[in-house]
Amino acid sequence: MRSRKKTFGGSWTAEKLACVRDYLIGFNLALRNQSFERVYIDAFAGTGYVELRQEDKHRQYSFLEVTESEAEAEAFLKGSALQALEVDPPFHRFIFIEKSPRRAKELQQLQASHPHRRIETLKGDANVRLTGLCSERWQGRRAVCFLDPFGMAVSWDTLEVIAETHSIDVWYLFPLMGVTRLLRNDGDIGAPLRKRLTKLFGANDWEDHFYSTFTQGSLFGDDVELIQKTAGVKRIRAYFLERLRTLFPAVARNPKLLCNARGTPLFLLFFAASNPSPKAKRLALRIAENVLGSS
Ligand SMILES: C[S@@+](CC[C@H](N)C(=O)[O-])C[C@H]1O[C@@H](n2cnc3c(N)ncnc32)[C@H](O)[C@@H]1O
Repeated sequence: MRSRKKTFGGSWTAEKLACVRDYLIGFNLALRNQSFERVYIDAFAGTGYVELRQEDKHRQYSFLEVTESEAEAEAFLKGSALQALEVDPPFHRFIFIEKSPRRAKELQQLQASHPHRRIETLKGDANVRLTGLCSERWQGRRAVCFLDPFGMAVSWDTLEVIAETHSIDVWYLFPLMGVTRLLRNDGDIGAPLRKRLTKLFGANDWEDHFYSTFTQGSLFGDDVELIQKTAGVKRIRAYFLERLRTLFPAVARNPKLLCNARGTPLFLLFFAASNPSPKAKRLALRIAENVLGSS
């Protein structure tokens, strides 16, 4: 029997949430006896629960298909914001950023069920809000920020301001499938989409990494220059790791590949830490690379 399909979610949702949650636990345990204020920032926070709503169908993301039984399992999953609130030892402060007013309202309601947690919900665009937050004084504070956008919503400038704090660790669910789809086989990518890719990667040399040109003799005896797409998961992963290393002093070497139920690669889960102290880098990488496992 063929199962019906639903959008948004899948076992990759549980995998990404488990990685981030396990890091939060390790992070808080490691810093519990230090004087830092520990902050959790969820920049695309959702509602606190994993949602499976049809209205979330995003044209670009209609490939996020899961079977009905998987979707039902996901329906009971706590989302990143709620999982972070329940981490023990707890964070001192929680900052939830959400663009949708309805979801932001649901996030605000988490305060009532978690009266002992200090929660701030910021409505608006994550890039704008994070830029504001990162311009604050970060001395004496350590944070973990989760970037879990629907698509290519995180701009490179935002990663830059996060890295400049020297205090914030980042988990970034990178839209691998979204990028793969934009990288057309014939290399004929229109100017607006080129701009989007450059904004995502923070550099315009992605084309050199993802395409190669070669010449071939035509039927008429002259040489024609052809373009060939060389970008696959491995190349995109390697290029983005290289890009992250230009900003962050510590980047986990083993980002996690997340696939849908049919084994189609959807996302890469990256980790980077902005604190340049050797001790902090070692600690962050030890925990992050351990939770990312061997993928
Ligand atoms: C994939 S969901 C996040 C799921 C969440 N991490 C969880 O575990 O439940 C992405 C969320 O980001 C929100 N969003 C989309 N674009 C945004 C933006 N530019 N700034 C802030 N939030 C945005 C959406 O409304 C949605 O709730």
